[in-house]
Amino acid sequence: MGYDFSFYMPVNILGGKNALEKNKNIFSSLGQRCLVVTGKSSAEKSGALGDIKKIFDELGIEYEIFNKITENPLTTDCLAGGKAARDMKADFVVGIGGGSPLDAAKAVCVYAANPHIVDDGIYTQSVVHTPLPLVLIGTTAGTGSEVSGVSVLTRTNGRKQSVSGKNYYAEYAVADSKYTYSVPYNTTVSTALDALCHAVESMFSPRADFLSQRFSLMSSKMLFPIIEKMIKENVLPDEAERDTLYNASLYAGFALNKGGTGFPHGMGYALTEDYNVPHGKACAVFLPAYLQEAKKANPSLYNSLFREMGTDFNSLKALIEKFCTFDFSVSEDKAREYEKRWETLKNFKNSPTDFNNHDAYDLIKHIF
Ligand SMILES: [Fe+2]
Repeated sequence: MGYDFSFYMPVNILGGKNALEKNKNIFSSLGQRCLVVTGKSSAEKSGALGDIKKIFDELGIEYEIFNKITENPLTTDCLAGGKAARDMKADFVVGIGGGSPLDAAKAVCVYAANPHIVDDGIYTQSVVHTPLPLVLIGTTAGTGSEVSGVSVLTRTNGRKQSVSGKNYYAEYAVADSKYTYSVPYNTTVSTALDALCHAVESMFSPRADFLSQRFSLMSSKMLFPIIEKMIKENVLPDEAERDTLYNASLYAGFALNKGGTGFPHGMGYALTEDYNVPHGKACAVFLPAYLQEAKKANPSLYNSLFREMGTDFNSLKALIEKFCTFDFSVSEDKAREYEKRWETLKNFKNSPTDFNNHDAYDLIKHIF
């Protein structure tokens, strides 16, 4: 692989304290009418929704708030958001929240401009018209959705599936970590683990390159000590640590954008769909197994990762096991169902070894 790299990042990222207020002129350039896409409460609690309303009132921008996005957003809700944007003749969309509202807002922009696409058609039908311009404001430190061209939605059959490409990038990401300060403990740890999974999974992906691996290393180095402290001492991060977590989640997003996710994400989706396990926790439980494969495939990169994080495999595994406890077991029938379903799971091909659906069955049986 050497030092070859390519880096595509079409999102204009405006980061730092009070970035929204400092950059409010972007909104006037996008138009006069905006649909704001959020979940039920996090946009409000974070302070970001209040800040946006104030700016829009000041600039004379008309807006409507579409707050129907749930965790693991449904294609049907995104379609409804698209219709709401069309009905109000929105010029642009603002998405505020964690991964779910941000991913949903991307889909809303596609649906809004492409009325021929309905429900799960977003996975199969062509995007004929350019999606509405989108501004994303993150309120959790984990998803990296602000800087990725990926949207993970839940299909009408209840399965999570991603859709990606140039139509799924925001025009702007406003990255101010102060909006993450009110996130409670379990979500903070779970989303930080999601970011660590993004950094590590993408690092050993066959699609990774020299630069994306540097982002992975930098992100992991920033994330690990804070994750360790949060889990070991059962404490929330302070504001400076929140700032570090948020920036690390963006760097992991850069790496993810290049390398994509491996089998922890592919397998984790099933735990979220069937047992309602939060996304980060659902992926992290498979991370130690992924690291064992990574070690076989690229021991020197594996050693660099642990050197940067300042820990070793057993300590990381113990930490993940301390946080990732579950109150259910996976039946033999269910594990066999997964084994069958995962015959064609793309995340296996995007992992560093030939780990396959039969190995995944063994792993599920071992953990649950
Ligand atoms: Fe993730």
